[in-house]
Amino acid sequence: MNELCRNLQLEYVDMYLIHWPFKFGKMVSSMPVEKGVLLPLDIKSVWEGMEECKRLGLARGIGVSNFTSEMLEDLLSIANIPPALNQLEVNPLWQLKKLREFCKAKGIHVTAYSPLGASGTRYGENKVLGTKVLQDIAKSKGKTTAQIALRWVYQQGVSLITKSFNKERMNQNIDIFGWSLTEEELDEISRLPQQKTIIFASIVGPHDVVRQIDAGL
Ligand SMILES: NC(=O)c1ccc[n+]([C@@H]2O[C@H](COP(=O)([O-])OP(=O)(O)OC[C@H]3O[C@@H](n4cnc5c(N)ncnc54)[C@H](OP(=O)(O)O)[C@@H]3O)[C@@H](O)[C@H]2O)c1
Repeated sequence: MNELCRNLQLEYVDMYLIHWPFKFGKMVSSMPVEKGVLLPLDIKSVWEGMEECKRLGLARGIGVSNFTSEMLEDLLSIANIPPALNQLEVNPLWQLKKLREFCKAKGIHVTAYSPLGASGTRYGENKVLGTKVLQDIAKSKGKTTAQIALRWVYQQGVSLITKSFNKERMNQNIDIFGWSLTEEELDEISRLPQQKTIIFASIVGPHDVVRQIDAGL
């Protein structure tokens, strides 16, 4: 972590996360990886290291990403400092209601990645922005479909990280305050068929732990 901060030319980071609940047993240059390469994380020793980073002031907050409720239970049973957040894929087509409720009950904040369904990226698709219900709501409110998706995430009490290399779209994406989705609009979005964008099994390999993440448990 000291080296990481040095490379970033920072004294500390605001939030330090475990990316996913497994590790690779060797350096990998490509994915998917074979059975035996993807190994379980020794969560106790890894989390002790994370807690040490916080104690040393190198990370203001520590958390996890792509953890299921069972994995969070395991972590909470050994943690001295509970994870501040769980970063998960959350968007109108992958709402993760049960897991979000679990996190809320345990005081773990949820941050959404791929809130636009990673449209146009090498691992994403255009399904979220191509959803007719979202497009119709956008039209009726004079907003863009992306703004409707982002506002929906925000109104769930979920913080979000979206990414754009385009200045106009960056401005659009920050302009989701001062207006809101109505109860009827929220209700309509809540009934959308669910479909995860990022299927880790097809990226990392069809390992059990990876399938659990993909199932949104
Ligand atoms: N923890 C994890 O396992 C995990 C997994 C995936 C992603 N992430 C992180 O989450 C962050 C965001 O996720 P993401 O990049 O996958 O997905 P995203 O924000 O849902 O989608 C980004 C894509 O949407 C496009 N876009 C952005 N704003 C738009 C708009 N207003 N209208 C139309 N298209 C728009 C971008 O293209 P332009 O650049 O051309 O605008 C880009 O191709 C990243 O920092 C990523 O590293 C974390």
